[in-house]
Amino acid sequence: MHSPRGSFTSRFGATVAVGGSVVGLGNIWRFPYVAGENGGAAFIVVYILMSFLVAVPIMLSELSIGREARRSLHGAMARLSPGRPWKFTGTLGVVTALVIVSFYCVVAGWALNFLGRSVVDDFAGRSIGEITGGLRAFIDSGWKPVLWMSVFLGLTAGIVWFGVEKGIERFNKILMPLLVLMLVGLGVNSLFMEGFREGMAFVLKPDFSKIDGAVVFQALGQAFFSLSIGMGAMTVYGSYVKRDESLPRIAGTVAISDVCIAILSGIAIFPAVFTFDINPTSGPELVFMTLPGIFQQMPGGYWVSIAFFSILFMAAITSSVSLMEAIVAWLMEEFRMSRRRALAMATGTVFALGTLCAVSQVEGSRLRVLGMDIFDLFDKTSSTVLMPLGALLIVVFAGWVMDGAMLRGQLTSMGHSSKRLNS
Ligand code: PHE
Repeated sequence: MHSPRGSFTSRFGATVAVGGSVVGLGNIWRFPYVAGENGGAAFIVVYILMSFLVAVPIMLSELSIGREARRSLHGAMARLSPGRPWKFTGTLGVVTALVIVSFYCVVAGWALNFLGRSVVDDFAGRSIGEITGGLRAFIDSGWKPVLWMSVFLGLTAGIVWFGVEKGIERFNKILMPLLVLMLVGLGVNSLFMEGFREGMAFVLKPDFSKIDGAVVFQALGQAFFSLSIGMGAMTVYGSYVKRDESLPRIAGTVAISDVCIAILSGIAIFPAVFTFDINPTSGPELVFMTLPGIFQQMPGGYWVSIAFFSILFMAAITSSVSLMEAIVAWLMEEFRMSRRRALAMATGTVFALGTLCAVSQVEGSRLRVLGMDIFDLFDKTSSTVLMPLGALLIVVFAGWVMDGAMLRGQLTSMGHSSKRLNS
């Protein structure tokens, strides 16, 4: 995608491109399910604090490293600290991307399947029990999730192959506002649901006694996952931002949008969760159990359902493309592979790992590690171990290894935006 190295044409373009990677299943699928598992509002407060106080500074470090070196994380660290082992942070980032994209494609496959079922109106007249049972049967079939995952992975690989990131940028500009509009619509629809009060209390009334170390860690992980940090994705984007654009502004706008979209998603989902008597701790299936019921109850639900799952699919693919591209670019840089070979290797590996994730979710599967299926293992370890570890290395690098004047130069855009930073 990145040679010859271009740059985003405007701050809006850069913000939207970064937003395409950041906004995805993390906001709409993962946020409600992790918030549900961790007690709701109190978790959300910690998550917001983590996003702004911890994640934004890390995002700024990644963008600065990328813009300074004009390379991916691996190459940037090798260039800014030659002969030292810092570049292995980039290798760790690639492993993280691989782990994430493997389960990400499985969930995106569910979304595609739900899109297909919306088109043929398969949810019509079904009770919540039937919808939930249907999802379980889908997962337990073993092969169906693999099939839909493969379709999604194929589409992702296709986009990475053709490198149509310009097209994606343009398409993100329409997509993001549409996504927000739909979520606001669903939020308004929640007003009319029986479980509205209970759902809103779950999202908005914090019970701080519920906060313990585990909740804080989950909130930190969700903030990292949702903002795509700790694995070098932002470094690549940073390398395309023009020298005089303000990085703090871009990071700030993206973080505010990301948090707002996640909370909107919570407001769209939880009133329905309580209306339909679904357990908020249902885990990764939560949103998929809830949405078809919401669409069934609302006027024009057939079309809303199709529109929603289409947008969810597109939000997911702009994120998965950025993850795949990180792996492909590293293979090309490190092993001097052609783009075609790198893409074939990456796709093959993701297919194998994704299949492992999907198959391990089948009821009674023995593919379990540390008491979790492989899907959960990948989901949990990427956000609570791999990304925080990567992030720690990145901030130590930015703060202590990289030249201080360089970092300051990046944060103030060589003086162009120093006033804004100081005020
Ligand atoms: N932030 C993306 C989402 O919310 C997921 C992602 C993580 C994308 C890491 C790229 C890198 O869906």
